[in-house]
Amino acid sequence: MTKFKTILLCLVVGIAIQVSSQSKKPVYTDNSQPIEKRVEDALSRMTLEEKVKLCTAQSKFSTHGVPRLGIPELWMSDGPHGVRMEILWDSWDHANWTNDSCTAFPALTCLAATWDPAMSHLYGNAVGEEARYRRKDVLLGPGVNIYRSPLNGRNFEYLGEDPYLAGRMVIPYIQGVQENGVSACVKHFALNNQERWRDRIDVQISDRALYEIYLPAFKAAVTEAKVWSIMGSYNKIRGQYACENELTLNKILKGEWKFDGCVITDWGGAHNTKEAALNGLDIEMGTWTNGFTFSKSNAYESYFLANPYLKMLKSGEIPVSNVDEKAARILRLIFRTAMNVNKPYGSLASEEHHMVGRTVAEQGIVLLKNTANLLPIDASKYKTIAVIGENANRRLTEGGGSSELKPKREVSALQALTEKFGDNKIKYAMGYGSGAVSYDMVNKSPYDEAALRKEAVELASKSDIVIFVGGLNKNTQQDSEGDDRRSYGLPFGQNELIAELQKANKNIVLVMLSGNGYEMPWLKQATTLVQGWYGGSEAGHAIANVIAGEVNPSGKLPFTFAAKLNDYGAHSFGAIAFPGDSIKEEYKEDILVGYRWFDTKKIKPLFPFGFGLSYTTFEYGKIAADKKQYAAGETIKLSFTLKNTGKVDGAEAVQVYASQPKSSMVRPAKELKAFKKVFLKAGETQTVELEVKANDLAFYNDKNHSWSLEPGEFILRNASSSADVKSSVSIQVK
Ligand code: BGC
Repeated sequence: MTKFKTILLCLVVGIAIQVSSQSKKPVYTDNSQPIEKRVEDALSRMTLEEKVKLCTAQSKFSTHGVPRLGIPELWMSDGPHGVRMEILWDSWDHANWTNDSCTAFPALTCLAATWDPAMSHLYGNAVGEEARYRRKDVLLGPGVNIYRSPLNGRNFEYLGEDPYLAGRMVIPYIQGVQENGVSACVKHFALNNQERWRDRIDVQISDRALYEIYLPAFKAAVTEAKVWSIMGSYNKIRGQYACENELTLNKILKGEWKFDGCVITDWGGAHNTKEAALNGLDIEMGTWTNGFTFSKSNAYESYFLANPYLKMLKSGEIPVSNVDEKAARILRLIFRTAMNVNKPYGSLASEEHHMVGRTVAEQGIVLLKNTANLLPIDASKYKTIAVIGENANRRLTEGGGSSELKPKREVSALQALTEKFGDNKIKYAMGYGSGAVSYDMVNKSPYDEAALRKEAVELASKSDIVIFVGGLNKNTQQDSEGDDRRSYGLPFGQNELIAELQKANKNIVLVMLSGNGYEMPWLKQATTLVQGWYGGSEAGHAIANVIAGEVNPSGKLPFTFAAKLNDYGAHSFGAIAFPGDSIKEEYKEDILVGYRWFDTKKIKPLFPFGFGLSYTTFEYGKIAADKKQYAAGETIKLSFTLKNTGKVDGAEAVQVYASQPKSSMVRPAKELKAFKKVFLKAGETQTVELEVKANDLAFYNDKNHSWSLEPGEFILRNASSSADVKSSVSIQVK
């Protein structure tokens, strides 16, 4: 080769190397690289100041990114029933955008009442698509706090009283959301089982109740659904704030469950820099407790995990490895969401999403009583149909606190019933009234109650049939965040009104919309009762379809309706057990929550957990197990036949409960271990197959801090509710 040729070749190779190294993207921006490599690479390029910045908010609902490296911020939104309207940068006020109207999906109690994980996936995926379209990276929900008392203002945002039901239902919701490159943020971890004094109440609880009742749904979210973020709650747990809690965050969540995502505070849930930093908090949002209530311009720099944290890192009081770990988790969350180039585009308030909402609402509605066969209504039999009650015509997607929504559409029961039966038949009277949506206490009706009642009773007496639509609403001290209900009764004189309507007309269909149980002094006289929940945008259509029989109800209660408040475990031990003395609260009923309490103590509820009727009837065959004896780690295969013995198609949520007659520890009379929603055509029979893992029959042993599967006899029962057992089989576990 001549000298000239050699020089030319060197030049060409040199240029090629230069071009290729210029076009090579940094590893952290390269989606084809494993996420851990990207995290490591990004981390290696960041300054201490940049890492700290990742840990705090820059506005009410967003965090700092790393602008120098092109790493975007995280945008968050409530959750869990739809994507909340835009909120101003620096305050809680609505931003009043015109392009942020969403689909309002049913409240989570309604989703739980479907007893159908497939509904949960549809729901999660649709709300995830809306979050994605609205460019949110984190959807603040779903909530899985256990229904401990019917006074909890936020029960409507949760999945009921049973850890197994809540766990099975939360998994597909989370998966559905995250398929969109949007993180679900399961909340409120943990023990936020009331709103009163939520900012400080210190929960005293046994390890056993913690592991058996209050944690399993969170555990399912982390270990099975692989949720990418979790929200710490406001309350204290054994003396330490939940957002800075060594036991729940470091030991259980990040230690035992190996959570690799981010712990985000509830808004204002951080209290101390060192505790937050060392005890597992990753992202601090909404802090106002340090004197910046209405955030001044520098408020964010004064967050516990902002400048005060940087100072401690620089002085060596907190090791730098601490921020490296947090930054790694936050980067992982950013790569999974904001910097995920493979995510779909999403969609907002589409017809498809409204149909998802309607289907979930229809599947969740629970028929509680139908002794006069008024339902389904045969409209040809009636000339006049009175619709009575404020909830028939009220917007129930507004209010309630952070789950408030600005829906593109909200169909009321009155509107849908009028569409269905015609306005020549339907006449409306309000009957009672609570006034506008409000975050102030509205315990007294702003209306002339007597006049409203008189008008309604007159209408009822001259109508052929009455559909009463009442219940609770989203005002403070009802089904709303920030405070609890103060009594178990229905508000605004509804009990008196219902009693008078019952005298005026014997054909009354009671439709109750709420996220909580309530007293029913009028139940004996009532022939027809429907629990309708909060059904979101399509609530009215779902109710009307069930009333008219176009949909056969198949929902079942996700919590127990007690006859009176003190029948609930939490209310059986005086104020220290609920709501506490404002400082401390003792969960004295321990593991006996919901039906576990009612069954074990032999207290008859108004309606048991798992109960719901249908327009058809089902016949259960005897339950059988595939073997007589099982070892730990084995799966128990159960089967029985189920027949639709009525004249219409329908679905039945079949349930399997377990008990251990002899044990060294108190064991509940029954515990839900499996369920399935089975659809059967009229006359059809199916063999239902269900599985229970022998290990799931264990209890949590406080003494040696581990799960114990005590050998011996276990009884497995198939049932249509926790109180209606059809048959049982005895098995041995070795
Ligand atoms: C609520 C959370 C909510 C957050 C942001 C808090 O007050 O407890 O559930 O996600 O606000 O709105």
